[in-house]
Amino acid sequence: MSNKGKLDIELEALDPAQAEREIGELSAQIRLHDASYYQEDAPSIDDAAYDHLRQRLLALESTFPQLRLDDSPSLAVGAAPSGRFAKVRHSVPMLSLGNAFSDADLDDFIDRIKRFLGLDEEDELDITAEPKIDGLSISLRYEGGKLVLGATRGDGATGENVTNNIMTMRDIPKQISADDFPDIFEVRGEIYMSHDDFAALNTRQEKAGQKLFANPRNAAAGSLRQLDTTITASRPLQIFIYAWGEANPLPGKTQMQVIESFARWGFPINPLMRVCKDAKELIALYKEIERQRASLPYDIDGVVYKVNRLDYQDRLGFVSRSPRWAIAHKFPAEKATTRLLDIEIQVGRTGSLTPVAKLEPVTVGGVVVSNATLHNEDEIARKGLHIGDMVVVQRAGDVIPQVVEVVLDKRPRDAVPFAFPKVCPVCGAHAVREVNPKSGEKDKIRRCTGGLTCAAQIKERLSHFVSRNAFDIDGLGEKQVEAFLEWGLISNPADLFTLEERDRLDEFSKLKNREGWGEKSVVNLFAAINERRSISLDRLIYGLGIRHVGATTAKLLARNYGSFEHFHEEMKLAADEQSDAWQELNNIDGIGGIVASALIDFFAEEHNEAVVGALLREVTPLIFEIEEQVVTVVTGKTVVFTGKLTQFSRAEAKDRAERLGAKVVGSVSAKTDYLVAGPGAGSKLKKAEALNVAVLSEEEWLALISD
Ligand code: IVH
Repeated sequence: MSNKGKLDIELEALDPAQAEREIGELSAQIRLHDASYYQEDAPSIDDAAYDHLRQRLLALESTFPQLRLDDSPSLAVGAAPSGRFAKVRHSVPMLSLGNAFSDADLDDFIDRIKRFLGLDEEDELDITAEPKIDGLSISLRYEGGKLVLGATRGDGATGENVTNNIMTMRDIPKQISADDFPDIFEVRGEIYMSHDDFAALNTRQEKAGQKLFANPRNAAAGSLRQLDTTITASRPLQIFIYAWGEANPLPGKTQMQVIESFARWGFPINPLMRVCKDAKELIALYKEIERQRASLPYDIDGVVYKVNRLDYQDRLGFVSRSPRWAIAHKFPAEKATTRLLDIEIQVGRTGSLTPVAKLEPVTVGGVVVSNATLHNEDEIARKGLHIGDMVVVQRAGDVIPQVVEVVLDKRPRDAVPFAFPKVCPVCGAHAVREVNPKSGEKDKIRRCTGGLTCAAQIKERLSHFVSRNAFDIDGLGEKQVEAFLEWGLISNPADLFTLEERDRLDEFSKLKNREGWGEKSVVNLFAAINERRSISLDRLIYGLGIRHVGATTAKLLARNYGSFEHFHEEMKLAADEQSDAWQELNNIDGIGGIVASALIDFFAEEHNEAVVGALLREVTPLIFEIEEQVVTVVTGKTVVFTGKLTQFSRAEAKDRAERLGAKVVGSVSAKTDYLVAGPGAGSKLKKAEALNVAVLSEEEWLALISD
């Protein structure tokens, strides 16, 4: 794309008018590409360029949610790359809705309908009102009561076949045996993710180092459009059914009756839907739904009105892609102006420093807002925020309010520019922005290097410290670590090793008397802890939880430096880029610039040094034995494990093989020497057989390595 670079650079600096223009242009472009792809089966653009356009649109829409077009192509398909699902033609097109923005627009809507139907102004016209759910629309086709197809909206005429994904959703009935359920029936509705589930998903994503979703709608779309349906299954998606496609006969004469039948058949329907007699009642309900908006567990962006009588709906028909008998009454942008009192820096569980605006409380769309997100350091600089400024705050589809801009005319004389801290406000350690050595760009997020000493991170770090690939302490997991922290029993790794002694001296009420513990489990725990008083060097290094140092990197380091003493010394010397130590570290095969800086930063931090020192008073790191030098039958061989292993966990089998000098990889190729296949082995086994790779059972493998 010729304008790719330009667009990316300007993304953050757009004003709303520019953003509106660009959203319009992008939406139109994407719609054209969708049309050539869906209708002509001839993509007019390659996947990467198409995805770039979509991502840009999504980014703009999440920064300026009010500017999103109601029929935005981003609503049609998820944020995932295009063209991966089979296409399905909808037997009845999936339409979009016209918009009303004011009470007057609603009056016009009703007048138009009455004129069209030849009704008098005072004639009754029942209209339903229900929330407009901010999710993604879906069509579900049932044949003989059985769910046979789930399809996204796509361009309205053709969508994508996501049946396998739909099948994982608990909310959706797979089989309906009611006598009056039509033989062929397509129900339509909106898939969404609740606020709580969205927040929990993002927490999980952050913990796993995965990308965060901007809002529940993107999370729902991204979760549904997964080729790996186990991912969809793990995401808590929900649905409201509000319409239908091919359907014969219909179970009622009005919109409301059909929806009530849906409920009877087991489909989730929105509980706020009502029938109203006139504009006055509709507006009252609109206001009521708007009032409830903030406390609903899901995002809505307006109220949808539909003519209740289905014979009227039939007569009214459609104009272009929208029905004449329905309209969406959108909520106005929720914005307010208030004073920025302060910017607080919060430290996340993984050490990220996040600025939060502390605001003079202000009501935005029915909710009192006193905190708002500022995203990151660059955002604050870009907006030029001063403490004391008047700022515009917006509550969007997102649950977290945002600071949109500064009202410069109202800047008080004594407003102070905000300087982002360079040290962690929780533990005082340096906070750094990593530089990606390839792109030379700084990470957007500044992170605390305090790791094991930082109270904000300690729970995460200690859980990591006791985890399987690190100290692997039996009976001690995240839950126990959390309780120990809460009870004040530990605050750093060394404390785990002094716990028994302190317990014996009864410095605090004994562990065996505490909830979840008893005589036996305490004895076992202390035994498990003591067993780790000598620890292999790689486990120790991994256990420190240094950023970017995973189990494999830890092993590389252990192998290279041999003893903790030597490793430790070298890491301190490596702080000088001219040193041999720096050279050596960067020369280790498999260690790049990011890892090297993370190591140097970690050991440059006095706080970390203190924690490591205390730990070393309790545990003895073993000299790393370079077992490869003892050449075994499998030294230098490439091995793949597949299927179920009965004697070892996968991690342990890998570890053992590596200690014997084998290279363990995940997939079979012509270079593979052995495939160790347990019960349930599938495609890897087939591939190995096809490539003539030696296949061993777990027993055969054990016999081989015990020679
Ligand atoms: S009715 C023929 N009802 O809004 C009319 N749509 O702008 C079909 N939507 O694509 C739509 N909540 O994804 C209807 N209660 C609701 C809705 C709703 C959300 C979405 C739907 C549609 C878009 C139209």
